[in-house]
Amino acid sequence: MVDFKRYTVTAALPYANGPVHIGHIAGNFLPADVYSRYLRARGRDVLFVCGSDEHGVGISIKAQQEGKTPKEVVDKYHEMMKKSLHEFGMSFDIYSRTSSKEHYQTAQDFFTNLLEKGIFEKKVSKQFYDVKLQQFLADRYIYGSCPNCGYTHAYGDQCERCGTSLDPMDLIEPKSALSNETPELKETEHWYLPLDKYEDWLKSWILENHSDWKANVVGQCRSWLTQGLHARAVTRDLDWGVPVPLKEAKGKVLYVWFDAPIGYISMSKEWAAQTGKDWKPYWQSDDTKLVHFIGKDNIVFHCVIFPVMLKAHGDFILPENVPANEFLNLEGDKISTSRNWAVWLHEYLLDFADKQDVLRYVLCANAPETKDNDFTWKDFQAKNNSELVAILGNLVNRIFVLTHKYYEDEIPAITEVTEVEKTLMADCAAYPQKIAGLIEEYKLREALQELMNLARVGNKYLTETEPWKIFATNPERVKTILHFGLQLIADLSILMEPFLPFTSIKLKNALGGLTPNPSPKEREMISKNWDDAGHLNLLTAGNKITQTGILFEKIEDVAIAHQMEKLEQSRPKVEVTEAVVGGTPDTTEIKVGESPTLAGKPEITFDDFSKMDLRIATILAAEKIEKSDKLLKLEIDLGFEKRTIVSGIAKHFAPEEIIGKQVCIVANLAPRKIMNIASKGMVLMIENQAGELVMLNPEKEVEAGAKVS
Ligand code: MF3
Ligand code: ZN
Repeated sequence: MVDFKRYTVTAALPYANGPVHIGHIAGNFLPADVYSRYLRARGRDVLFVCGSDEHGVGISIKAQQEGKTPKEVVDKYHEMMKKSLHEFGMSFDIYSRTSSKEHYQTAQDFFTNLLEKGIFEKKVSKQFYDVKLQQFLADRYIYGSCPNCGYTHAYGDQCERCGTSLDPMDLIEPKSALSNETPELKETEHWYLPLDKYEDWLKSWILENHSDWKANVVGQCRSWLTQGLHARAVTRDLDWGVPVPLKEAKGKVLYVWFDAPIGYISMSKEWAAQTGKDWKPYWQSDDTKLVHFIGKDNIVFHCVIFPVMLKAHGDFILPENVPANEFLNLEGDKISTSRNWAVWLHEYLLDFADKQDVLRYVLCANAPETKDNDFTWKDFQAKNNSELVAILGNLVNRIFVLTHKYYEDEIPAITEVTEVEKTLMADCAAYPQKIAGLIEEYKLREALQELMNLARVGNKYLTETEPWKIFATNPERVKTILHFGLQLIADLSILMEPFLPFTSIKLKNALGGLTPNPSPKEREMISKNWDDAGHLNLLTAGNKITQTGILFEKIEDVAIAHQMEKLEQSRPKVEVTEAVVGGTPDTTEIKVGESPTLAGKPEITFDDFSKMDLRIATILAAEKIEKSDKLLKLEIDLGFEKRTIVSGIAKHFAPEEIIGKQVCIVANLAPRKIMNIASKGMVLMIENQAGELVMLNPEKEVEAGAKVS
């Protein structure tokens, strides 16, 4: 194994078209941060780089939706992401953006370098062109009927109905989503990166030299390589992006996936300029370990395309590892920015102030390292209450309280070492190595489990020795127990730092004797401590501790119910917002988060409509749901059966006023669990301009279950 002198760690650059959500965190920010913090704690030289990815069609679409320019969109989300990531404790050495001057220069130089080496192939192809607006159309800006399922609003890259991935040429009756006009095919010229020429090299580099990469990563690469690679265009006809640095390429920009990974390099340069350091060793020395943390949808870009770019350029090192994570789902559904199905970091930080470590803990304990995983609020609560509070918090609390009570916060000296202490020392000694080994293998879940096991060792020691019981008869013995207890917490405070940095600092401050509030410069001093941990000898008897207060507090049901409700509220807006993208001429007027009008929905077929089973039902009973101010639980009669439906109308109707009323419902909506109640169907409501809800009911009474068609 090479002895690496330094590390360049990257976390995938998030698109600046929406705020950061827990999927981004679990997928790449958190593992990259844990890894970087760990390396620093061992005194290694680390450069941890991240920033906003500010190009690509996703940004233009967002701009169109929000009625803003792409620049306004990226400025807004860049600041927002940067702030929330910082507050969440991401220890980036730099968080910059791909709209920076340095980035434009670096990306253009990279392109020119490959061009001059004769790497690119230039090809002419035909692409859809909006004659009215005089512009070429990105795949997402073309819609038409899906050749596979007939859905009339499939996009040029994919049919959202049947999931088939498409080429714009496949669409039946293609239309420009910008003008709704039929686009023309027009010739255009682009530069292509001939991936096919690098196939053999990639095969040996990945499948032979790096077969130690995670199975999901190697597996995806193998499947790409067996299918065969073809040349990929690295330029686009768009007005948002890094301009292609050629006179003949007016109106063309670099493909976002060409410029974005170069961002890792340009941001390293910015970091160097800001700190007076040299960026080159971090990208050009063979004794630097380059590690890219990404989500699985980025594998091909980081394992195939970017390495080919680096290899073709020749001046740069290649990634040593690309530990890609699978996806994190939310309450069983895919997280989606466009569908507004997410837990947003900036909202979490408001709702759970000072609880960064709780989310870090839960997302790391649940990290989708080997398979997709699910985040649920119930599990969040359970992990906080029965692990952080009951195991870690409880250990610290008991030892601190007793030290205060018996010794007025002074660290007592050892009086005698018994067999129990000998076992304790032997048990603790193994942890720093064990945890380090797992982190270096990117098994962060297991590493975190081992950290908790060390806390369990501490709790077991207390249970065995019961200092609170023996103090009256044997106070000398209690000195030893609390001494070791505090030493164990000192070890924990070091080993937890990569995972729970906020708690780590609190503990280090409270224990004294360790560096309090380390500034980045002081990191080196602390870093020595990782290798010292495990010996239960970090603290000096006679020094004082300071009480930390409660480290972790119980999270109550109401807080969780509130989050669940917030999520449920975000569901309906969703479909409408997404359906609107690229659809109708009035899209710019619809802002995410507002309820768009029906006029914003694309046309549907009679078939689409007839899939809905609309019925009139009679409300038999209605009651408020505890801990929710928006939801009512309704018992309804459908004639052929009675059902429960949870409906978000509590702010508009008192339960007693609606009993006996007839309402229109969607009877065949897939059942959903809302506040732990199975809800079967949905009550239709009209919202008037004043925002009041009005019931939709038949002109005269009909029998329960009557069909609406
Ligand atoms: N913005 C991309 C995404 O969210 C990731 C870009 S990573 C980089 O999927 F390497 F290109 F920077
Ligand atoms: Zn389809």
